[in-house]
Amino acid sequence: MHSELLKRVSLFEGLNDEELSTLSQVALPRLFPKDRVVIMAEDEGDTLFVISTGQVKVSIVSEDGREVILSMLGKGNFFGEMSLLDGHPRSANVTTMQETELLMLRRADFLRLIQNKPQIAVKLLAVLASRLRKTDRKIKGLALSDVTGRITQTLLQLAEEQGSTTPEGVLIHNRPTHQDLANMSGTTRETVSRVLKRLESQGYIVHKGKDLLIVGADLPVSDS
Ligand code: CMP
Repeated sequence: MHSELLKRVSLFEGLNDEELSTLSQVALPRLFPKDRVVIMAEDEGDTLFVISTGQVKVSIVSEDGREVILSMLGKGNFFGEMSLLDGHPRSANVTTMQETELLMLRRADFLRLIQNKPQIAVKLLAVLASRLRKTDRKIKGLALSDVTGRITQTLLQLAEEQGSTTPEGVLIHNRPTHQDLANMSGTTRETVSRVLKRLESQGYIVHKGKDLLIVGADLPVSDS
């Protein structure tokens, strides 16, 4: 019954209908409300999660107790593969940002799948490489930019990952809260509010209800 969704998950693209249907029989669906912790860092893990609908954030907590958001993942993405692959505890927290349906695959089923279908292992490596690239870019941004640069970089990343192009610019649907934007940019909620206000008065962005319009890609990269 979940074959249709699994078919749209790029990781499973190489599977034929029969294999998808076998996989869908061992993938357990579960609905999580908003703000529910699905994975807790340091826990033991034996489940892989595929996002059927909704969105999650992947985060860690810094030494001084602040949340650092590493990534946001939406429909068709997966998470929880790291503990299954290396046997170590969970590397990060994963929390729903809205009501989210997840398909859960047990370790044994997942490992069998990648052993039987090497092309899935290759796809998995490609996704992991792309996540590492994004994380590298993020580290570079956090190390190099001042606070405006970090916030605009976060906005451009969101626009690239989940924005839709309109004649007026790129629209980020259901933009993250100012607190989440702060946790993605290594700053405080107050600073995000101040910088967004300035960017809006300068015409770079427009708040549209819950959405945010980015007018052009030439956002300023410094506070001045
Ligand atoms: P696991 O360590 O099992 O549990 C937490 C999950 O968060 C991890 O698997 C990955 O699926 C995901 N994750 C950890 N770090 C990142 C990252 N930098 N970018 C995207 N996803 C991540």
